Amino acid sequence: MINGHTQLFGIIGNPVEHSFSPAMHNAAFAELGMNGVYIPMRPADLAEGFRGLRSLGFIGVSVTVPFKVAVMEFLDKVDPVARNIGAVNTLLFERDGDHCRCTGYNTDWLGSNQALGEELQLAGSTVLILGAGGAARAVAHAVSSAGGRVTLFNRTPARGEALASDLGVGFRPLGEFHGGGHQILINTTPVGMKPHSDATPVPADRLAPELTVMDIVYNPLKTRLLRQAEAAGCAVIDGLGMFVYQGAMQFECWTGIEAPVAMMRLVVEAELGCAPGGLREPDKHAPVPGT
Ligand code: ATR
Repeated sequence: MINGHTQLFGIIGNPVEHSFSPAMHNAAFAELGMNGVYIPMRPADLAEGFRGLRSLGFIGVSVTVPFKVAVMEFLDKVDPVARNIGAVNTLLFERDGDHCRCTGYNTDWLGSNQALGEELQLAGSTVLILGAGGAARAVAHAVSSAGGRVTLFNRTPARGEALASDLGVGFRPLGEFHGGGHQILINTTPVGMKPHSDATPVPADRLAPELTVMDIVYNPLKTRLLRQAEAAGCAVIDGLGMFVYQGAMQFECWTGIEAPVAMMRLVVEAELGCAPGGLREPDKHAPVPGT
């Protein structure tokens, strides 16, 4: 029940109304019997919105597109890894009397490594990454730090080249993509996300069966890229694991309490209208456990 002691959490983004983070975090609070609430927020102006979070007593806030880079200028401190990645997806507000300090972290890269590490040996693998935005930065950092050899592919060459040289990895224009002879392909672009689920970032005939293909898009869970990859004989990893792990690490950053990861995953699967267990056919009547 919301009362005078309820602790405030939330997410800022634009758009934010389709985010699954509120369902996931509120279910975690309910599961653990915590008096917290997590709400979606779309600030008309980031600077004003940020001042509001500080002044209204928010404790933890997720940051999503398009604020992951822009929010950094308002923070009192940025965690060195997030600084290195160049993007923040997690804000922690710590208060001491009238003083409030906000630190920014990045849990996207940890989520990515956890999801990939469950399925794959990254060390020594060649990893092709599509995109050069904030998500690509986090994933490329994750893969490189685990010993994978990264090549970026991007639609806009100047942006891709800049990121590749920043990270010390290879770059090719997206039009030149071919997966043959490589181990892992990761899509970090939003191409294929609902409502544009007919789109796919690379032609199906450029996929090769030796690839394991991961899509960080998780809505729909089985993107067109993953469907085409399966048809080409590739192993596939959907974006749900990365999403749930980045959220679980946010929860732990804010509360210091171990997140109920399995339950959080079930909640997002139910929100997605899928049966538990990954890439299954939609089931509109799946229950929402723990809520
Ligand atoms: P995020 O922070 O979520 O990564 P972003 O910074 O807007 O979002 O980056 C989106 C990435 O997806 C970019 O690499 C973008 O390519 P450009 O640099 O050419 O803009 C890529 N992207 C978005 N839409 C795309 C499309 N239709 N085809 C190919 N790449 C696309």
